[in-house]
Amino acid sequence: MNETTDFPRGFLWGAATSAYQVEGEPLADGAGPSIWHRFAHTPGRTHGGETGDVACEQYRRYPEDIRLMRELGLNAYRFSIAWGRVLPQGTGAVNARGVAHYDRLVDALLEAGLTPSVTLYHWDLPAALDDRGGWLNPDVAEWFGEYAALMYRTLGDRVALWATLNEPWVVMDGGYLNGGLAPGHRNVFEAPIVAHNLLRAHAAGVEAFRASGATGAVGLVVNLEPKYPATQEPADLAATARADAYMNRYFLDPVFYGRYPEELAEIFGEAWPEWPAAELERIRQPVDFVGVNYYTRAVVVDDAAALPLRAGRVRQPRHAYTEMDWEVYPPGLEDTLRWVRDRYGEVPLYVTENGAAFYDPPTAEGDVVEDPLRVAYLREHLRAVRRALAAGVDVRGYFAWSLLDNYEWSHGYSKRFGIVHVDFETQRRTVKRSARFYAAVIASGGAALG
Ligand code: FCB
Repeated sequence: MNETTDFPRGFLWGAATSAYQVEGEPLADGAGPSIWHRFAHTPGRTHGGETGDVACEQYRRYPEDIRLMRELGLNAYRFSIAWGRVLPQGTGAVNARGVAHYDRLVDALLEAGLTPSVTLYHWDLPAALDDRGGWLNPDVAEWFGEYAALMYRTLGDRVALWATLNEPWVVMDGGYLNGGLAPGHRNVFEAPIVAHNLLRAHAAGVEAFRASGATGAVGLVVNLEPKYPATQEPADLAATARADAYMNRYFLDPVFYGRYPEELAEIFGEAWPEWPAAELERIRQPVDFVGVNYYTRAVVVDDAAALPLRAGRVRQPRHAYTEMDWEVYPPGLEDTLRWVRDRYGEVPLYVTENGAAFYDPPTAEGDVVEDPLRVAYLREHLRAVRRALAAGVDVRGYFAWSLLDNYEWSHGYSKRFGIVHVDFETQRRTVKRSARFYAAVIASGGAALG
């Protein structure tokens, strides 16, 4: 087989962002604030108190960013819609100016030959809905369904890929268990309820899609991180199974099989409720694709003190780690893509996020920023995708995280993930070597990966 030509025709070569991380001006044109706006403006919640108030100014600068993507030869862009821009109260009155923004964005992408890939929920719940209980309120599923239907009605004739939720596991774990992300709760009893409501919302979003007559495909985006046992001791093997159930199977098992992994009852103990069978039946609905966000792996040990999971991770001596302290482990991407196919069947897959934060200087000198570690990261992970393709996994696209250095949630602007550098003083964009490398890979149909 010719290793250099096995990216299929029509493969999407993209980059990804999310609304709160790049747009800036979160309250412009009549938008309602989100839980991230609130959280970031609460003292002590984010690195240096940094917020998404300015970010990359993509709300205004999107034509420039689209030009950049076109120059690089990308053929797809994954972005998210800020729910509160189109429905300031989360439900009810539509904000036409917010809708018009995304309408223009989609048209501009199509004009530039870029396939729009829309994420409906990338963590920025309207604050007005949080005031009504947010993800803890069972009504959130119908609120989300109403919002999703509005977007399908408005953009459904032009958008190829719709993801209901981005990384529901992180919404639950970061937002309601560890509290490092908005809305910042720390409550083990809330976490399973939030997860269930996220799944119910996803189902409502899929149902609304099927009813809408929109032309594209609908799926969900999950963060997957393969779990490898540190030893073959039974306790470590059991901890690895728990960690895997918790992060990797928690959302996909209900969507594909209508049941939760059995380890979850053990993990959550008395915080684990009984779930109505009819709700799990509704959650189990065919999706057109699964988006996989992959960054790292975990090598797992039993750890009685790490509640509720009772599993810890072991640092790998002499392995490379990113600025997030995530191990660089490219084979894990191939393993993950194969695992999804083996466990859930022949569903089309997209790598919806993959990338690395490495140190880059705040100000770029010259017309390219040298980022050799990110070039290597990209090369090795794209090779892993190619191996998965060679093994018959139906991977349809790859989106680098991220197009731009941006607002990395509670880390503020301290972690640079972009293949394009952003000077946050001037908003100047400068391509990094990784972007040039990616452009060469795209132009060569993969051959430049070697
Ligand atoms: C993912 C998020 C994305 C970004 C990357 C680094 O979990 O989906 O917004 O923060 O991590």
